[in-house]
Amino acid sequence: MLDHIDKVFVPLAASSRSDVEIYQMWEIFKAVNAKVKAGGKVVSLLAGEPTLPPPQAAIKAAQDALSSGKPLGYTEALGIPALREGIAQFYQRRHGLEISSSRVAVTVGTSSGLMLAFLAAFSAGDTVAVVEPSYPAYRGTLKAIDLVPYRLTTNASTGYRVTPEMIAALPAQVKGVVIASPANPTGTMLSAEELRAIYDLCQQRGLWLIVDELYHGVTYDRAAETVLSVGDDAIVINGFSKYWGMTGWRIGWLVLPERLVSRIEALHGSLQISAPTLSQLAGIAALNADAELTPRVEAYRRNRDKLLAALPRWGITRFAPPDGAFYLYIDVGDFTDDSVAFCRRMLDETGVVAAPGVDFNTADGHRYIRFSFCMDAAIIDDAIARLDPWFRRLNRQ
Ligand SMILES: Cc1ncc(COP(=O)(O)O)c(C=O)c1O
Repeated sequence: MLDHIDKVFVPLAASSRSDVEIYQMWEIFKAVNAKVKAGGKVVSLLAGEPTLPPPQAAIKAAQDALSSGKPLGYTEALGIPALREGIAQFYQRRHGLEISSSRVAVTVGTSSGLMLAFLAAFSAGDTVAVVEPSYPAYRGTLKAIDLVPYRLTTNASTGYRVTPEMIAALPAQVKGVVIASPANPTGTMLSAEELRAIYDLCQQRGLWLIVDELYHGVTYDRAAETVLSVGDDAIVINGFSKYWGMTGWRIGWLVLPERLVSRIEALHGSLQISAPTLSQLAGIAALNADAELTPRVEAYRRNRDKLLAALPRWGITRFAPPDGAFYLYIDVGDFTDDSVAFCRRMLDETGVVAAPGVDFNTADGHRYIRFSFCMDAAIIDDAIARLDPWFRRLNRQ
């Protein structure tokens, strides 16, 4: 009866959309673990994870919630109303903006906010422009949901800024633009005028504008501008991972144009039900922790300045000093054209760990590496002390 069925076993293939690039950073991470296991010393400037604990008020709110014995069940899909209200008020305090809490959706980290925003704004097969260099998960997330990333390449000569001219020159098939300010890995931050020009062009051309504002609060010479002060029709992504140092709490938010709110509510209800309740409660308390967090940003600034002062000694001249975030993206093209091999060699010979640029820029990331500087000052000092003689040697070779 089953004779017509081909007896040759053909294994089922994985989907094409799951064919997402693996970050080279994870390969370096494995090499780090192997080195540590073998008793080697590692000084890691790899991860964008602040090493200090979350704000005291957030820890206390979580402890109180746990000891209350309450079940901490699901919340409304868009988040606990008090957190949505707290986030709306945060925009009032920080930017003097009236944002209705009805436009705020609480998400499972910024990462899930990104995916929800892409799902709500684009249809399968759409092309979306992504600035390069940028956070690699933009490309991965687009790919995973059948969207096509279009590279909008920037470079150090313009401080890695995306310009209105670049938006104006986008091909007709592009349906939206993803930018970050301040950006990972470059720390580049756009002014209110730049955001306005980009917003206006996107409006004129019928493009969704998605702005990742996750590094707001971590800025050095001026405060970050939110695109919400320019207009209500962009999608803003933000979260508690960086300024608040709450990466593992997996809590973020979106501020949406009204017409996307019910779409996001339905999507979130289907995909995740709600963001973690404990983290939402901690988030409410964390929103008022500026007094504890501002000194941390000052410590990042001191770390940044030490690294910037070291670069000329290392013979590194091509970089853009970061306006915000806690990364330094530098051109090491005089020493290598393989940033993964360069990071491995740096790890082997000095114990210092950096991220290879290939993760952030498919065009010329092979010439770049990224240092993260959100760690304790002693770690930065140790890294510099190890890299000083190493780069001296490299420059003599
Ligand atoms: C620019 C940017 N956006 C989003 C994320 C994801 O952050 P999370 O999901 O922890 O909020 C990161 C993480 O490093 C990032 O650098």
